[in-house]
Amino acid sequence: MLPPASDIQLRFPDLEATTQFGLMLGDMLKSGDVIALNGDLGAGKTTLTQAIANGMGIIGDVTSPTFTLIQEYPGTIPMFHIDPYRLTDPADAYDLGLEDYFDRDGVVVIEWAAKIYEYLPMDMLVISIELPELTSNDEVRTLTMRGIGDRYIELVKSICMRYPEMCVMVTRAIDEF
Ligand SMILES: Nc1ncnc2c1ncn2[C@@H]1O[C@H](COP(=O)(O)OP(=O)(O)O)[C@@H](O)[C@H]1O
Ligand SMILES: [Mg+2]
Repeated sequence: MLPPASDIQLRFPDLEATTQFGLMLGDMLKSGDVIALNGDLGAGKTTLTQAIANGMGIIGDVTSPTFTLIQEYPGTIPMFHIDPYRLTDPADAYDLGLEDYFDRDGVVVIEWAAKIYEYLPMDMLVISIELPELTSNDEVRTLTMRGIGDRYIELVKSICMRYPEMCVMVTRAIDEF
């Protein structure tokens, strides 16, 4: 049986709004949390990861771990940043030893998460970043979030409480994330 889930959507007018959101989210995270990011190239996954890291108190630049596919950022709570973009065969994800990261003390942030869903834990926060089609402003983004499992449903609720005027409840099929 699938765990219960909760979906919300936020619309950010500019880069600054995404950054503020990431800082806040990073501050809310606990060791063991898993954040799965989806969205096209240039949507803002790495940008959001950077802000999450900063919100967790991690200083320094977060870049896409293109060659290693996994980058560790030490901190009070470490962050493990996984980017399987260059993984040609998703089956190779197994060789990355992903499950070790989910057992370690730290927060795991995964870009292109849909590529490796089968290797991810059941419970997580999935965030899909999109550029709305009908806008002339190239900084507008919608972030659709699905909290799966109790911890992440609570997290989604807390996020919504921080954005009461902006937060919209939505429902999507999982393959739309
Ligand atoms: N509201 C926004 N949120 C996130 N990124 C934005 C926003 N507006 C503009 N950008 C820009 O879009 C680009 C996103 O790139 P990046 O984070 O590398 O995307 P991805 O990792 O999804 O491929 C960056 O150049 C960033 O400055
Ligand atoms: Mg990226």
